[in-house]
Amino acid sequence: AIFKEAYAEQFYVGAALNLEQIWERNPVASKVVEQHFSSVVAENCMKSMFMQPREGEFYFKDADQFVAYGEKHNMHIVGHTLIWHSQAPRWFFSDKEGKDVSRDVLIERMRNHIHTIVSRYKGRIDGWDVVNEAILDNGEYRKSKFYEIIGEDFIPLAFQFAHEADPEAELYYNDYSTAIPAKRAGIVRLAKKLQEAGIKIDGLGMQEHHGLTHASLEETEKTINDFADLGVKVMVTEMDISVLPHARRHVGAELTDTAAYNKSLDPYRENLPEDKMSELGRRYVDFFKLYLKHQDKISRVTLWGVGDADSWKNDWPIEGRTDYPLLFDRNYEPKPFFKDLIDLAK
Ligand code: G3I
Repeated sequence: AIFKEAYAEQFYVGAALNLEQIWERNPVASKVVEQHFSSVVAENCMKSMFMQPREGEFYFKDADQFVAYGEKHNMHIVGHTLIWHSQAPRWFFSDKEGKDVSRDVLIERMRNHIHTIVSRYKGRIDGWDVVNEAILDNGEYRKSKFYEIIGEDFIPLAFQFAHEADPEAELYYNDYSTAIPAKRAGIVRLAKKLQEAGIKIDGLGMQEHHGLTHASLEETEKTINDFADLGVKVMVTEMDISVLPHARRHVGAELTDTAAYNKSLDPYRENLPEDKMSELGRRYVDFFKLYLKHQDKISRVTLWGVGDADSWKNDWPIEGRTDYPLLFDRNYEPKPFFKDLIDLAK
């Protein structure tokens, strides 16, 4: 059974691609992508530090190949991400002496970065994660360099620049932990501000990096409803479900007790214990049931990777974990619950 066919009437099902997959160096992974997914997003290669490592020096090779790959397979193509405090090159914010640039200079750099990239793929990329992770869990603006130097206007400006460069492309705001009530409210406030200012925003992305016990389904449902009430598309943009013990219970903010945390990972090193596989399956089914219940609001559900070996969760919050957060295992075989997800859509 084919994932994208089962969900064809409901929403796009997507996967984030790493460089191996973008360049088709792993035929087994490519086959899974082409068979099962109707949408793709680049996991890393369109971030600013890769696309413009030095001022005015753009690197397009990987992004070009990514877009060509999506087109070749008739996929819904998402660009990730134009403005993000993380994985931004240091030069973006500094002058030759290493001091912060002025507000005007940073706005100009944003304009140039966004115009150059978005216009290159005009008409070919269906939607852009224009701004990523600008709101904190308490609902306030993240005190990033963009915020410190420009103020909250950096967000409407980013959307405005993207719209100028490709008026047809959909424009999204994307963030994690959107089920936290204060954060959800902050994102709703932000989206309303953009709408009231006449700025085009087409969708809100819920990243959905979950664990076996977080986030709560009830709170997630509230977020879907609150976002949809704004009249925008709601998207699940980066889904995965970590099965490993939650790091924060073991590791302090300064990663003090890594030994104890590492030990707690031992039962998972060789393979995923059967009871955990069942738990993972139930979690995926629960979330997909929720997404299906709101299929009139949700336009896409994207997994943050294809097979378990590709997942960022193996290296975060500390390196050398063996996690099992995706739908396909390390051999790109579908997990036992994959067929349940397909049956749900019927
Ligand atoms: O490209 C270099 C490579 O040259 C080097 O040899 C290698 C050694 O560490 O690092 C490579 O860069 C890594 C990059 O992924 C590409 O593999 C970075 O160290 C690593 O930090 C980076 O991690 C990515 C992370 O974003 C960066 O913050 C993850 O793969 C990617 O999955 C993750 O994705 C983010 C979304 O963009 C936004 N939402 C959260 C999500 C998960 O953190």
